Amino acid sequence: MLNSSLKAIRGSFVDFVDDPFSRSEVECVRYLQDGLMILENGKILEFDTYANLSDRYSHLPTEIYEGLILPGFIDLHVHYPQTEMIAAYGEQLLEWLDKYVFPTEQKFQDLDYARKIASFFLDQLLLNGTTTAVVLTTIFSGSVEVLFEEAQKRSMRLIAGQMLMSRNAPNFLINEPHKADAENRKLIHKWHGKDRLLYAITPRFAITSTETELKLAGKLKAEFPDVYIHTHLSENLKEIEFTASLFPDSTDYLNVYEQFGLIGDRSIFAHCVHLSDSAFQRLSLAGAAIAYCPTSNLFLGSGLFNLEQAKSKAYPVKVGLGSDVGAGTSFSQLKSMGEAYRISQLQQQNLSAFKAFYLATLGGAKALSLDPKLGNFDLGKEADFVVLEPNATPLLTLRNSAYTGNLPLDAIASQLFGLMILGDERAIKATYINGELAQFRD
Ligand code: GUN
Ligand code: ZN
Repeated sequence: MLNSSLKAIRGSFVDFVDDPFSRSEVECVRYLQDGLMILENGKILEFDTYANLSDRYSHLPTEIYEGLILPGFIDLHVHYPQTEMIAAYGEQLLEWLDKYVFPTEQKFQDLDYARKIASFFLDQLLLNGTTTAVVLTTIFSGSVEVLFEEAQKRSMRLIAGQMLMSRNAPNFLINEPHKADAENRKLIHKWHGKDRLLYAITPRFAITSTETELKLAGKLKAEFPDVYIHTHLSENLKEIEFTASLFPDSTDYLNVYEQFGLIGDRSIFAHCVHLSDSAFQRLSLAGAAIAYCPTSNLFLGSGLFNLEQAKSKAYPVKVGLGSDVGAGTSFSQLKSMGEAYRISQLQQQNLSAFKAFYLATLGGAKALSLDPKLGNFDLGKEADFVVLEPNATPLLTLRNSAYTGNLPLDAIASQLFGLMILGDERAIKATYINGELAQFRD
């Protein structure tokens, strides 16, 4: 019986069914060397070996891919207005913000300009295999509206919110907290839960918020408990020192956010490079998530994130990967994984390919509490996925042809490791959003 709303994807599939930081990797990776995925209305209807499913679905239109099909990448922290000022020379966080970021963000009061960049930005995500992103905007409501509109056009899963800033920034980026609160409420009503879009209350960081603003943010979160909180935490030593001087009653940086009711299982904290044991434990107990931003932490010289401590068995924190463009130096989550590997090496730690790809897929979905909908190929989930080309370049082809192992899972681990160390957008053959082809590289 032909059902025209169904279609099939055939190829080699790799995804994760559990967290490889918490149990053995082989129990967490699922690999179907010749698999078939049946899609219906943007969701996964069936997923199994081709041999098991082909009898029932051989009549369907079938797209066949070489390479490896994985869940779409999740970018847990990225600034769309900073797309154009990526690779800004010579400064660390606070000076870099003053010199490059703030003047750029001012431009986003112009809606046409904001839409042009939002559109370019979302297309960059798709080119790089990123299908879900948690995005920072500017203080201008219009900059949020155009981003949501452009994401809606592309059927993307996007979490975003208006940036809250009420002090320690140039006048052109200061918004009065009550006015910002009213704007936030309007945006929540209009966008939160619309199609695949979700809202995040987004204080830039403690330094640019007054107590009044953080109090209003906490009140708003209490009224709308299923919206997210998204901000920066403990990225840079001078930032931490300045924060302590602004909030002398707080016991540490995290405690600033704690005091205002901003910590919970829908809170995402970017960076967390310099955290005490106590702060890691409190994040774990609250079910809050860390956006680990490797390329940014290296580019701004912020420091080495302790992934092993974050994923400790005693107090595991939910962790996903953020590109953090424009402090981050690439939209490619393959690059984020590669830099994460190097950061682990500098701390005598290791990061396997399976762990790294977990962070960019199911780990990110869990960090967002969206794992019931996204992050792997379980039945009923949204069909966002990416086709990776392990031999995307002559160098990768040569390297992979020299591989001599004979266990299938080891061979896959080797190909994925090659991609995370040497790969970039050239390795993204296709990106599917909601079951539809959104990007294809010829
Ligand atoms: N902390 C506050 N604002 C920013 C920002 O725009 N980028 C980064 N990396 N850190 C921040
Ligand atoms: Zn950031």
